[in-house]
Amino acid sequence: MTEKIQVAIDGPASSGKSTVAKLLAKRFNYVYCDTGAMYRSVTLAALRHKIDLQDNEAVIALAQSITISFKPGDPDQLVFIDGQDVTRQIREAEVSANVSTVAAIPAVRAEMTKQQRQIASRGGIVMDGRDIGTTVLPDAQVKIFLVATAHERALRRYRENVQKGIPTAPLEEIEKAIKLRDQKDSTRKVSPLKKAEDATEIDTTSLSIAQVTDKIAAIIKKARA
Ligand code: DC
Repeated sequence: MTEKIQVAIDGPASSGKSTVAKLLAKRFNYVYCDTGAMYRSVTLAALRHKIDLQDNEAVIALAQSITISFKPGDPDQLVFIDGQDVTRQIREAEVSANVSTVAAIPAVRAEMTKQQRQIASRGGIVMDGRDIGTTVLPDAQVKIFLVATAHERALRRYRENVQKGIPTAPLEEIEKAIKLRDQKDSTRKVSPLKKAEDATEIDTTSLSIAQVTDKIAAIIKKARA
């Protein structure tokens, strides 16, 4: 029987992580876990409860009290907070603009890391995020770090919004927001966005989704052999 391994996929916003991770999970019949959706869920819950995001204690208590869960869905996996579907709401601009602040709180990260390790504990998992290969699953058998230029990533996000019918900001504005989020995610003190030393870096700027997926699938097959 082939081994059920852990696959960690990290990279900046809109580098194609979640699209590729979902396809790989389907191909290998693995569980997919979008850790960004977990930080987004905490942020959405805090905004809904009108919690001051600078009040770390209040945000931490909230992160520890809510239950975040996933259910398979097509095309998107469904995300729930305490049983309520928030799949669409966690992608809204207000959440995107505030999620880096919440994700920088060490105790929030500790709580999410604990839950993520639990989800990954039985293997057969594709997990995407910023710190999966470095912190959450340092022993993952496959570690991938995806990169693409900020312009290309803004273009992808813009097209995705248009395609999904989500109200979208102009391209230049999206590119500015992506650069700002990159900067915040890379410079925070706890678990910054960083390539693990043993990760394989793939530049997706001029690659199709299928090309990136095939490249990683080959790496997974080799690791399972
Ligand atoms: O991948 P995404 O854009 O949905 O992630 C949302 C935010 O959550 C992003 O600004 C960084 C943060 N994040 C993180 O700090 N650690 C992770 N493992 C995943 C996401």
